[in-house]
Amino acid sequence: MPHPWQYDETIQVGTDYRNRQEVEAYDARMQTLRDVGAEAADIREALALSGDAVVWEIGTGTGECALALAASVGHVYASDVSPTMLDYARHKAAQRGIRNVSFESGGFLSGFRPQQSVDAVVTQLALHHLPDFWKSRALAAMAGSLRPHGRLYLRDVVFPAAIDDYDAFFAHAVAEVGAHAGEDVAQQTIQHIKAEFSTLDWILEGLIERSGLQIVRKDCKGFISVYVCEK
Ligand SMILES: C[S@@+](CC[C@H](N)C(=O)[O-])C[C@H]1O[C@@H](n2cnc3c(N)ncnc32)[C@H](O)[C@@H]1O
Repeated sequence: MPHPWQYDETIQVGTDYRNRQEVEAYDARMQTLRDVGAEAADIREALALSGDAVVWEIGTGTGECALALAASVGHVYASDVSPTMLDYARHKAAQRGIRNVSFESGGFLSGFRPQQSVDAVVTQLALHHLPDFWKSRALAAMAGSLRPHGRLYLRDVVFPAAIDDYDAFFAHAVAEVGAHAGEDVAQQTIQHIKAEFSTLDWILEGLIERSGLQIVRKDCKGFISVYVCEK
């Protein structure tokens, strides 16, 4: 039984990824905007993954990253709180004949946990679904599941602290997103800023370090930051 104060992470903030149409639209958008192969290559290198590595991806979404990593590691556990996303991802795995990814129901705070320590945890564009206090609990859980010197690859929307005028910053960012990815994505960016829980860089970095992880690499491109961290 969860504690009565436990944050309910099954309630989606922003886009409702339990909705099949939203999931299909997300998948189609990501296919055009992202290069999964390049992302997986960066993750493999940053995490120094060996051929028998066990990886846990949290907030796997449509499963593309887990399925791309599967070719070069031993096993990937891929969890998500959205049953619709999990069904969608399982279908992709079956279509591609990939057997070393298990899609599991659970989030950062509850549900599926690997039974043994993992070599690496990956989470992309998902941690911002939690308010900051609960991000700290999520990071502690991720750190707890890693073996000693195991690594976390965290990619998410993070706001830089060194901004004088956030309204001007957001207006510019939304315009850039619109020019690059279209009006729908620009509107989603507005909703993200307004209703989701992306936080400031110094807050996220403090939360990471207090969870027992050391940041060994940080890349920042506009709104999106990557943190590679070691236990
Ligand atoms: C924007 S999508 C990102 C999916 C994928 N990681 C990617 O990079 O395309 C966010 C995903 O996080 C999931 N999610 C939301 N809250 C979560 C939580 N508390 N724990 C795990 N996953 C969560 C959503 O269901 C959704 O699949």
